[in-house]
Amino acid sequence: MKIGIPKETLAREQRVAATPETVKKYVDQGHSVTVEKGAGTRASFADEQYTAAGSTIGSAEQAFASDAVLKVQAPTDDELKLMKAGSFLVGMLDPSNKERASVLANAGITAFALEAAPRTTRAQSLDVLSSQANIAGYKAVLIAADLYPRFMPMLMTAAGTVKAARVLILGAGVAGLQAIATAKRLGCVIEASDVRPAVKEQIESLGAKFLDVPYETDEEREYAAGSGGYARSMPQSWLERQSKLVHERAKAADIVISTALIPGRDAPTLLSAETVLAMKPGSVVIDLAAGRGPVVDQATGRRGGNCPLAEADEVVVTESGVQICGYTNMASLVSADASALYARNVLDFMKIVINKEGKFEVNMDDDIVAATLLTNGVSSALRAA
Ligand code: NAI
Repeated sequence: MKIGIPKETLAREQRVAATPETVKKYVDQGHSVTVEKGAGTRASFADEQYTAAGSTIGSAEQAFASDAVLKVQAPTDDELKLMKAGSFLVGMLDPSNKERASVLANAGITAFALEAAPRTTRAQSLDVLSSQANIAGYKAVLIAADLYPRFMPMLMTAAGTVKAARVLILGAGVAGLQAIATAKRLGCVIEASDVRPAVKEQIESLGAKFLDVPYETDEEREYAAGSGGYARSMPQSWLERQSKLVHERAKAADIVISTALIPGRDAPTLLSAETVLAMKPGSVVIDLAAGRGPVVDQATGRRGGNCPLAEADEVVVTESGVQICGYTNMASLVSADASALYARNVLDFMKIVINKEGKFEVNMDDDIVAATLLTNGVSSALRAA
């Protein structure tokens, strides 16, 4: 089978869907791989390394004309025109974007959205949400350290003592837990909040304090248990109590890193404008949910994140001197390792969908295949006919 690795063209996307390491594996399995010229450059992989791994370096047209195209982001409309009807596409295709799915279906593409893989033990090695959120949580702390006008650790010097930064983490999933671990390594004092009670132990084992908002009704307890391992929108009563506690703790914090998401819903508002205004000058907010919150501005369609003041891909500075960073693609800023991990996720996914004859096979009895299949080119072609 011919496998194509195009260069990512979306703004701020520096990752690549295959590395020389994974290309070598595809070649060893008998596939021929075409990597678009310069596809790995921004992730620190040179064309020569891909050639040494056994692939051909080609144009975008050649990479997209393959039987299977491996991408990080969904192809643009122009890129899609370069793909053959009946070919396969694997990437982070945003399964919630129905419009894009119908464009892919109409083009006769069989597409797999890797974000939709189940959170099961078997799917762990191809879990792109985890591999990339882990990196985002790490980078969020480093960007906070960069923006923060003070030291992160406590320092005792001849010129006086510097206090450790106080970090508040909202949402302790994969990104939040890595943010706790990274902030801990930098010597910060950390508190963290999550709706799911199961994370209390994980937060504490990483050396942070769990901000407890006790459940007062059976409804609150039931919602907090989540569904399929994910959080559900909590009842208003609980959110109001959480908001009061977050307000108090944010006032005392130097850095707030928010990572809270609810699948299929707008990101919850956890850090209100009022709370940001009450924070100390020089404080930093990193909102990993920027651009995914409820629409803040009807005229422009601007979305905040966990903080309504956050702006996607911008650092906003309030009049009170609080910096709010809304970078939406933190993982891409660690492009080499993010690509290496993503490429291994893709390779592990390919092991499931390529059969012994080296051909793509869509086996709907496999829960990973069934969950990730976004469009079935064969059946859409039949529907069109
Ligand atoms: P996510 O990115 O969907 O959400 C981030 C965090 O925000 C979650 O911990 C969620 O509980 C929290 N959150 C939502 N609303 C909140 C609120 N109002 N206040 C505070 N926090 C709020 O979550 P992620 O990181 O994708 O993890 C989801 C679940 O999947 C976790 O339970 C994780 O442990 C589990 N998981 C399981 C895997 C496996 O078994 N293979 C692999 C990776 C994750």
